[in-house]
Amino acid sequence: MIIKFTLNGRSRKVDVEPATPVTDLLRETLNLTGTHVGCDTSQCGACTVLFNGDAVKSCTLLAPSLDGAALTTIEGLSGSSGSNRLHPMQEAFHENHGLQCGFCTPGMVMTAVALVTRNPAPTEAEVRHGLEGNLCRCTGYQNIVASVMAGAVAMNEPAIGE
Ligand code: FES
Ligand code: FES
Repeated sequence: MIIKFTLNGRSRKVDVEPATPVTDLLRETLNLTGTHVGCDTSQCGACTVLFNGDAVKSCTLLAPSLDGAALTTIEGLSGSSGSNRLHPMQEAFHENHGLQCGFCTPGMVMTAVALVTRNPAPTEAEVRHGLEGNLCRCTGYQNIVASVMAGAVAMNEPAIGE
């Protein structure tokens, strides 16, 4: 079946099998390998993407669900302001050492962006609660939380400066 959707700000039309997981579509058909696959069963959050602005686990989302929707992957965050710069949340993870092996990081960043978009000034407890669906096998949670807190401030900086 043919589906049409917006991927990282661009219109896409793709022929998919109805049972294709979005992770397979992204990684194998569209060569967007920044979305990682850990558990493949909606447990770890490594595959998190933004689906109409909400953080969702794409390993258990079927490709036909994308028809008419807007999808953002980790590849769509950098340069989203029209520049070549990393997204403020990505910069915050870099500056606050919010990753070790990096496997969970794309999913963590996508969840964090959705969280801060919904709640621009989250408390540390709200950040920890918001990250509950994302597991880090390197157990670097302290720095991940610090990164999200810093990223929240950075994401709000243009609005504060206006
Ligand atoms: Fe999707 Fe783990 S790969 S939640
Ligand atoms: Fe290694 Fe999170 S940084 S899994």
